[in-house]
Amino acid sequence: MKQKLMSGMRPTGKLHLGHYIGVLSNWVSLQKDYDCFYGVADLHALTTKYDNTEDLQQNIIDVVLDWLSCGIDPKESTIYVQSQIPQVCQLHVLLSMITPQNWVERDPTLKDMAKILKNKSENTSSVSYGLMGYPVLMTTDILIFNAQYVPVGIDQVAHIEITRDIARRFNNLYNTDFFIEPKPLLTHVPMLLGVDGQKMGKSFNNDIKISDDEKTTEEKILKAITDPNRMRKSDCGNVENCQVAFKYYEAFAKDNQELLNQVKEECHSAQIGCRDCKKRLACLINEKFAPIRQKRTELSSNIDELKQIIDEGNKKVQIENQKVLDKVNEIMHMYK
Ligand code: TRP
Ligand code: SF4
Repeated sequence: MKQKLMSGMRPTGKLHLGHYIGVLSNWVSLQKDYDCFYGVADLHALTTKYDNTEDLQQNIIDVVLDWLSCGIDPKESTIYVQSQIPQVCQLHVLLSMITPQNWVERDPTLKDMAKILKNKSENTSSVSYGLMGYPVLMTTDILIFNAQYVPVGIDQVAHIEITRDIARRFNNLYNTDFFIEPKPLLTHVPMLLGVDGQKMGKSFNNDIKISDDEKTTEEKILKAITDPNRMRKSDCGNVENCQVAFKYYEAFAKDNQELLNQVKEECHSAQIGCRDCKKRLACLINEKFAPIRQKRTELSSNIDELKQIIDEGNKKVQIENQKVLDKVNEIMHMYK
């Protein structure tokens, strides 16, 4: 039997190339070796966007469209929406009782999220009780499957540490070995930066979407920063100092050493200008995503079918998760 793996993403809208390189392409290749469950973490979206829920449904659909078009196969993996699984909410309450307050307070990722929220509004009440429970809710997502592995980007590893701590604490408190301490599965490519060299993100306006059209992709790529010492086309460049454009080459042509060598060579000898170099990069990315974008267009013309995939996933997950919840209730001597 295959080992179990689960992961999730917050529905922030259409996914960008950073999601693809850092997480999604990994999810796709893990499907054949593991029994995979991929959840849209819409309750997690509420921890910061509780005052802006109009786009939530569309964002969920957009995320699932991106997953399917990039190759998550519903025949192989189970796709579901977190808020539709009552068992998640039940286990979350139980785990929140056994989690020490100072464990969530020291979660570095959570601290960062709270800081961003506080900066956005002078109002300190913008950080909700629910946000403090973020790592416990994420722990619940994982433990409700008793999954062995969690494929995530490097930014999520601190949360998985808390998950392991909570699993261990549960086992110690109730003298059991029921919960598996899950392990993160990291992709070995670092997160892709935005075209401006900062962290890639929708809110920073520096991202390229998987679903952007070819022209938009090229326009955005042409803005990508290059070797800052290369002022004129006649200056020799150095790919080591080309923090965005060359990194994209490395990410999207990682199996094409010949092309990478050629870029290096042409850059170092000033045979190519940055603009042409980036045009070629845009072509490479557009070629890579052409079939994915095509598939996305097809899938979006039949949203009912997409919803059916999600509904079937939800049902399957509810049954699967109830088994774990029953066992937890029994271990904790809850009323029956
Ligand atoms: N916190 C994750 C993110 O922001 C999303 C997430 C929610 C998740 N639940 C999860 C990831 C469970 C892995 C496992 O990307
Ligand atoms: Fe970067 Fe290409 Fe310009 Fe060299 S030629 S600095 S690799 S964009």
